[in-house]
Amino acid sequence: MTYLKRTIQFWFAIQSRNGIAAGLQSQLSTLASTRTVRSFGSSSPTETTLNSSSSSDKESDMNEEATPPSSLLRAFEEVPRSAIYEGGIYETIGKTPIVRLNKMLSKEDTKEGVAIYCKLESENPGGSVKDRLALGIIEWAERHGELKPGQTVVEASSGNTGIGLAMVCASKGYPLVCVMAESFSIERRKLMRFLGARVVLTNPAHKATGMIIKAKELSDKHGWFWPNQFENQANAWIHRETTGPEIVQAFENAGKKLDHFVCAYGTGGTVLGVGSYLKEHSPGTKVHVCEPDNAPMLYSGIPTKYPEDGQPSSSFDVAHPVWRPHLFQGWAADFIPKLVNEATTQQAYDSVLHCGGGEAMKVCQELALKEGICSGTSGGGILAAALKLAKQSPEGTTILALIPDTGERYLSTPLFENIPADMTDEEKEIAASTPSTPPPAPGLPAVEAEATEWIQKQIGGHKVLCVMLEYCEFCWTLTGLLDALGVEYHRIDVDSFEFAKDNQGNKYRSALQESTGCKTFPQFFVDGKFIGGAVDACMMWKKDELQKLFRDAGIEGGNGNFNDYQGDAFEFLPKWMTQNPLRSK
Ligand SMILES: Cc1ncc(COP(=O)(O)O)c(C=O)c1O
Repeated sequence: MTYLKRTIQFWFAIQSRNGIAAGLQSQLSTLASTRTVRSFGSSSPTETTLNSSSSSDKESDMNEEATPPSSLLRAFEEVPRSAIYEGGIYETIGKTPIVRLNKMLSKEDTKEGVAIYCKLESENPGGSVKDRLALGIIEWAERHGELKPGQTVVEASSGNTGIGLAMVCASKGYPLVCVMAESFSIERRKLMRFLGARVVLTNPAHKATGMIIKAKELSDKHGWFWPNQFENQANAWIHRETTGPEIVQAFENAGKKLDHFVCAYGTGGTVLGVGSYLKEHSPGTKVHVCEPDNAPMLYSGIPTKYPEDGQPSSSFDVAHPVWRPHLFQGWAADFIPKLVNEATTQQAYDSVLHCGGGEAMKVCQELALKEGICSGTSGGGILAAALKLAKQSPEGTTILALIPDTGERYLSTPLFENIPADMTDEEKEIAASTPSTPPPAPGLPAVEAEATEWIQKQIGGHKVLCVMLEYCEFCWTLTGLLDALGVEYHRIDVDSFEFAKDNQGNKYRSALQESTGCKTFPQFFVDGKFIGGAVDACMMWKKDELQKLFRDAGIEGGNGNFNDYQGDAFEFLPKWMTQNPLRSK
């Protein structure tokens, strides 16, 4: 296929999301009498020749061979990543950069001119390669009437698909329920919920199959749309339409040949979609797919037995015998997905490579230190395999590794276990090497009688008073404790917008400082008496002194007994205070 055709095909894939492309495409449909399209259903993609009169058929959206007017080429070229996207965030999916590794290949180990490039899928708006799938399966379902406006989507995911779907669904207005085993990173759960999804956690012992069973149960029970990413052809389709052409085009534009492409498999969408595209459009490129060395299902040669009655793979009755828990979130579920199987039978890849978790984490760290690229564990595994390939390659070999996501998604996992949150000895030494001169204190105005009067009125007028700075986490420590105790309080934020005019807030601060002798916040008052700050309040609670003070003032908190609070009052201190020097006092 010529560069122009590929460009247009890609342009369609990207732009058919908005009305302009849809309009242009339907114009083209009426121009062409016949055309070859790929049709996708529940089975493998097949080449089909359609008559233009069937332009409303679902296959018509996949028009690959129409000869477009050159304006489309211009339109594509004029839409760089930095363009304006009218439709929504999902229009920015794809077009991820390819970056050469300049320091990781040692001259001693590799022959002249051997190069590794990384396609950084973390540059997708949802931070992973799975954004492509999310868009592919949602738009596919929309076009084919499988997904109704406002219908809830439910999917089983190790997280990246869930985050991609949460982004696409938020932008398009579909509620999302993501089913995920508890063992996947906390960051993933939080990100999905932040994007409005609900996350149903499953027992890690039930593995990926348990997640799929649960997603199907929920879909059946509630009538939710279940894309079933492990078997959905739109998953491979989107990679054939975007990732594959992006790679071929990038290397073609740079005048470089691509000898090897290395990826891994989760659902198999990437290897089937990109692999089959490369086989067709870059036949000189060898495709390699990675799997964990302790769950080598493809290597084992043992197939997954799919249900014969066309039921989805959730009805497997036997887990794959060589699958073991591994470190690669997003790789190798406990069965060989149908899309992977299809990639095998179609010979969409040439070899299977293996990598261990420890090795992957080491390569991730090296990638960050030497190249400034922050990759998740799986990217480290793929790169580890690419590095081994590079060492065996002849002069001038070019390798592309697909890096699926960012290391930021793994802060709570073993990948970051050795990265401290507190200062190391070396950092302490650096810190101690200069005096750490404090910045000048904010200049407070002279005390004014009017401000003093106002402050005293507040102190006397509230049983419990917290004078605070609005966004100070120590101030929130105090209110966090009082909220837990069910103690009602009056709160004054002296630095709030309300008191900014004429420096009023600072006038109150001056008056307060003169009254209490205390410069810091919060300032805590009970029954007209100054008690101290947040740590003082917590300490007093721990020593049973605050309880007495409250009771003497007739304050009993929630349910007449401070909500029966039994916690450690220091739990409300800022989360970044990992070493609390007062905890043992
Ligand atoms: C984190 C992550 N997500 C997704 C994938 C891609 O998987 P799929 O086969 O589902 O396209 C991989 C594969 O490397 C991965 O590591």
